[in-house]
Amino acid sequence: MQAEYFDGVDRTPEEIRAHYVALERMNRLTRFERPFRVWIPKFLGADACRRLRILDLGAGNGQLGRVLSEWAAEHGWEWEFTNLDLCPVAARLDPSERHVVGSVTALPFAEGEFDVVVATTMTHHLPGDAEVIAHFREAHRVSRRLVLLCDLHRNLIFQMILWCICLRDSRHFRADGVLSIRRGWRVPEWRDLASRAGLDSARVWLEHGTRVLLAVTK
Ligand SMILES: C[S@@+](CC[C@H](N)C(=O)[O-])C[C@H]1O[C@@H](n2cnc3c(N)ncnc32)[C@H](O)[C@@H]1O
Repeated sequence: MQAEYFDGVDRTPEEIRAHYVALERMNRLTRFERPFRVWIPKFLGADACRRLRILDLGAGNGQLGRVLSEWAAEHGWEWEFTNLDLCPVAARLDPSERHVVGSVTALPFAEGEFDVVVATTMTHHLPGDAEVIAHFREAHRVSRRLVLLCDLHRNLIFQMILWCICLRDSRHFRADGVLSIRRGWRVPEWRDLASRAGLDSARVWLEHGTRVLLAVTK
C-alpha cells in the first residue's frame, strides 16, 4: 500500500513535468495504446467506431488520447477525447481543450455522457478498495456503450524486467515503476472489486502476462 513518489503532495512542478516526460517514453516503449486499438473496435464494431466521444480517466498529459485519435483518423474515424486527471500540472501539460481537473471517484459528468470510458495505469494509484469501487461505478455511470480499463499485472518477473528497462531513468521513476507493479492487480481481485461495484457483467482478463483489463458493455 506504499504510495508512489509520483503521488507525493510536495513534488515541484518541474519534478512532475520530468516524471510525465519519462512516462511518455515508457508508454511508447510498451505500446500502451494497443489494448484500446484492439478492443474498442472488437467490442463496438467498425460502424460504431466512426465517431466516438471518449473519456480518459487519470489521463496525465493526455498522451493516450493524442495517440488514439491520430490512429483512429488514419482509419477515417473521429475519436474525440476528454481527459480527466487529479493533478493540475498534468492539465497544464495537456494541449487538449477538453481537460478536466477532478477525481475518478466522483466524476463531474452526466449519466451516459460518453460513448466509451477508458483508463490506463491509473487504478493502482487509488488508496484502497472503497476508492477503486467508486471509480468502477463512476466509469460505468458516465459511459453509454463501453468501459475499458487497463492496469498493471502484479508479478515478480514483470517487476524485474521493468527495473532493467528503467535503468536509464531517475532513481525516483525507477522506484515508482517497480512499486506500481507491486501495487498492481491479479484478475480475481478486479473481478471481486467489479462485483462489489455492481458490475456483474464485467469481463476481466490478463493480457501478455503484464496487463489486467476490465470491460463492460451496455
Ligand atoms: C501513472 S499516471 C498514468 C497517466 C496516463 N494514464 C498515462 O498512461 O500516461 C497515473 C495518473 O493518475 C492520476 N490520478 C491518480 N489518482 C487520481 C484520481 N483519484 N483521480 C484522477 N486522476 C488520478 C495521476 O495524477 C496520474 O496522472
